Amino acid sequence: KQMSNSDYDLEKPLETKVGLRQGLPSYGDPHFSLFLRKVFIKALGYSEDALSRPIIGIVNTYSSFNPCHANIPQIIDAVKRGVQLNGGLAIDFPTISIHEAFSSPTSMYLRNLMSMDTEEMIKAQPCDAVILIGGCDKTTVAQLMGGISANKPILHIVTGPMMPGSHRGVRIGACTDCRNNWAKYRAGTIDIEDISAVNEELAPTAGTCGVMGTASTMACVLVALGMMPFAGATTPAVSSSRLRIAEQTGKNAVAACEQREKLRPQNLLTRESFLNAITVLQAIGGSTNVVVHLMAIVGRHPKLTGTITIDTIDEIGRKTPLLVDLKPSGNNYMTDFHNSGGMLGLLLELKHLLYLDAMTVTGQTLGQELANATLPIVPRELSVIHPFSEPLCPASSLVVLRGNLAPGGAVMKASASKYNYLLQHTGRAVVFANSSDMAERIDDPDLEVTKDSVLVLQNIGPVGNPGMPESGMIPIPRKLGSQGVLDMLRLSDGRMSGTAGGTIVLHISPEAADPSSVLGIVQTGDTITCDVEKRLLQLDVSDGEISRRQEERTKALRGTDAPWVTRDDMRGYRGLYMREVKQAQFGADFKFLTAEGPSAK
Ligand code: FES
Ligand code: MG
Repeated sequence: KQMSNSDYDLEKPLETKVGLRQGLPSYGDPHFSLFLRKVFIKALGYSEDALSRPIIGIVNTYSSFNPCHANIPQIIDAVKRGVQLNGGLAIDFPTISIHEAFSSPTSMYLRNLMSMDTEEMIKAQPCDAVILIGGCDKTTVAQLMGGISANKPILHIVTGPMMPGSHRGVRIGACTDCRNNWAKYRAGTIDIEDISAVNEELAPTAGTCGVMGTASTMACVLVALGMMPFAGATTPAVSSSRLRIAEQTGKNAVAACEQREKLRPQNLLTRESFLNAITVLQAIGGSTNVVVHLMAIVGRHPKLTGTITIDTIDEIGRKTPLLVDLKPSGNNYMTDFHNSGGMLGLLLELKHLLYLDAMTVTGQTLGQELANATLPIVPRELSVIHPFSEPLCPASSLVVLRGNLAPGGAVMKASASKYNYLLQHTGRAVVFANSSDMAERIDDPDLEVTKDSVLVLQNIGPVGNPGMPESGMIPIPRKLGSQGVLDMLRLSDGRMSGTAGGTIVLHISPEAADPSSVLGIVQTGDTITCDVEKRLLQLDVSDGEISRRQEERTKALRGTDAPWVTRDDMRGYRGLYMREVKQAQFGADFKFLTAEGPSAK
């Protein structure tokens, strides 16, 4: 449909739903608004023919501070080629970009900001469909949150996993091996030359962390949700195949404009789509962070709010085996998963647990897509995808614990525990009041701690330490580490990196900074019980004593509604964050951004 002089015919009403005409700002009459819009875009050299095509927005999150996104320029080229091959017009635009290591205080703190940026730019600009290029942990989450809220057809493509590196003949990769090697260095088993050499090899190429961390987990989740092609999750960042996936995504985006209503994310994504995603999350031994992220994503969907909770994750876990042998739960890297058949191989193995009628961005159902795909043959001994009948772990790689210590729930990646006995353990609490207290005392030779102690870190929750940092993997006290202790039961209201492992209870809700919490009144010397089989997390202290300590704490806080009100930095984004962030069990989104709106609790 060509644009022409008739665009300026004042007698003819303008169709303002698609292409360049959608969402016209008001400069007097709509014809004049379109006239002005064309004046400006023509400064970029576009012809009337180009401007008459479906417009595919491409969200560009390239940043020189984000090595995980270093290949985005090539991906954009390939996406644009695909859009043009199918008769569309591709227009890229930036949003903020978030890298794990360059986002102080934490990337999680900025996730909601990126989701707002993404949502508003998709809404503001005349795109018929939008391709979201992300990769590093929080970026894909923020893009999906914003995309669901904006509710134009969206298609994801991720930058893809990096290749593994090598040290002394052993493969290594960010960032499970960052932590393993650092722990060895702390314990004195490798020296300063070795640790420097390791540093050169942990992230040897562009792309996202090459283990089953948050970025890889989210990439797999995007496939399970139907938002990205099967090979999109595992194809290496630096491979030419990734560019062909990008080209295909460009073509798919133009095709999606033909089925606009059906493919709007609030129509495409159903409860079943998310149940599929959770099944995959469990089968890959995915990142604990994704539990929080999924709650935030579901919370943006007006038809699904409240229908999926952290308990859904536990329920699905009970019937889903761990099948993919990747670090940190297992031994391998994303490239191995890819060479074993990747998400296609896994979804075929899980087929009987999946809702095959769930829709995908191609307009085909998941079942149709699976039926049309061809799985390369991989000998069993070379595959890191276990057959359903021979799982790595029979069920429940991620569990949700409750009890007086976590009435709102807590999350543990049980499959990443290093010593099985810790999954049913009672021990003496050693409590740290916050991150700096922990940093000061953890390596103190006089710290009263044994391998059976329970390390408790308070005040690293969404409000207590804005952004809920990934400090939940409390380091093993040096004096125990040097005796060969690799794991202990550790508890906090914070998060840990998806690439980390150990017997670690996270996201305890309500968080310690909340006056109603029990976590906030745990004292060194108390006894704590964690029983994964019973899904129990308990402070073995009487109810009376708990209430007494809570009252005492409230008195100490007298005159302030909440601990954070006294802070002097309530302005700007930080102020917004402190006033609006929800607890981890609800996704740590801002109340006013959820589908429930500002009245959300
Ligand atoms: Fe970007 Fe790990 S730091 S994915
Ligand atoms: Mg991470």
